[in-house]
Amino acid sequence: MNVTDGPVWLDGRLVDSGDAVVHLMNPSTHYGWGAYEGIRFYPGRSGPLVFRLREHVNRLFTSAQALGMRIPFTGREIVAACAELVERSGLSSGYLRPLVFLRPGVMSVAAQLDQVQVAIGCWEWAGYLPEAGGGIRVRVSGWVRSGPAQLPPSVKSTGGYLNPSLARLEAVRGGDHEAILLNQAGRVAEASAANVFAVVDGTLVTPPAEEGILPGITRDAVLTLADDLGIPTRERPLARIELRTAAEVLLAGTAMEVVAVTRLDGMPVGDERPGPVFGALRSAFDQAVSGRLPAHRDWVTAPADVLEAAPGAP
Ligand SMILES: Cc1ncc(COP(=O)(O)O)c(C=O)c1O
Repeated sequence: MNVTDGPVWLDGRLVDSGDAVVHLMNPSTHYGWGAYEGIRFYPGRSGPLVFRLREHVNRLFTSAQALGMRIPFTGREIVAACAELVERSGLSSGYLRPLVFLRPGVMSVAAQLDQVQVAIGCWEWAGYLPEAGGGIRVRVSGWVRSGPAQLPPSVKSTGGYLNPSLARLEAVRGGDHEAILLNQAGRVAEASAANVFAVVDGTLVTPPAEEGILPGITRDAVLTLADDLGIPTRERPLARIELRTAAEVLLAGTAMEVVAVTRLDGMPVGDERPGPVFGALRSAFDQAVSGRLPAHRDWVTAPADVLEAAPGAP
């Protein structure tokens, strides 16, 4: 299934993909006014399970609010819409893409923020980096992550993605899989669509929110799973040079899940193979997303349960 093939929820209605149209002369297309989320669903024992649905919907509202855009639906309605889309898609696993944007009105960079629309797409997910199992090649980008006084990375805005997109494109065109961006101080911020972890002296280290990152929902899951597994964790600033000497470097995000970095800037990381910390975390993560970790059963949501609790919700 193509991204344009799946059903779309648009402003309260499920529409066929071909009917999910907006006028081109809207300020979101021109100036990047928008907030979005990426959410995965996975095969569970008795149907698809959406991973950390409420956390993603909460972040969508926070991002929109930070931009001054008021979403004309409640969080429960958006959660129900996601559940309905998953059911309608008939897919056992896939991706949900809620998008908050502006309808056409006055064409000005001082956009009319009360003209908010919401669309949610749903499609099958072939994998962000299908060949990632054996580890990926990453480079530190020449592009610097936008800072809190520019476009705060904690806000998942559509316009804000040009910054990491430039970095990823540079990496991919240069033969690598992904880019890591440094922050304004020259320390590690995050990858183009994932958070960064390094195993330093046996501790799983990741930069804290203040270092200029999107504090990922997968990052939170990885830190929790590491605690469960008895792997020491620490949120602290991470120097670029530490990535060179780390035993393992990992990336984690909704799209790429948890992957091992085996080459960085053309040099091997550790012994150039996915390491034991990665192995333990990846296996726990796979169990969690499919509802097989009793301690974290609350991380996954069955669409049928949402729809039963909110019958007839848009
Ligand atoms: C820039 C950036 N950082 C981190 C992440 C990881 O966030 P999450 O795990 O919530 O998907 C993403 C993914 O959306 C991202 O785009």
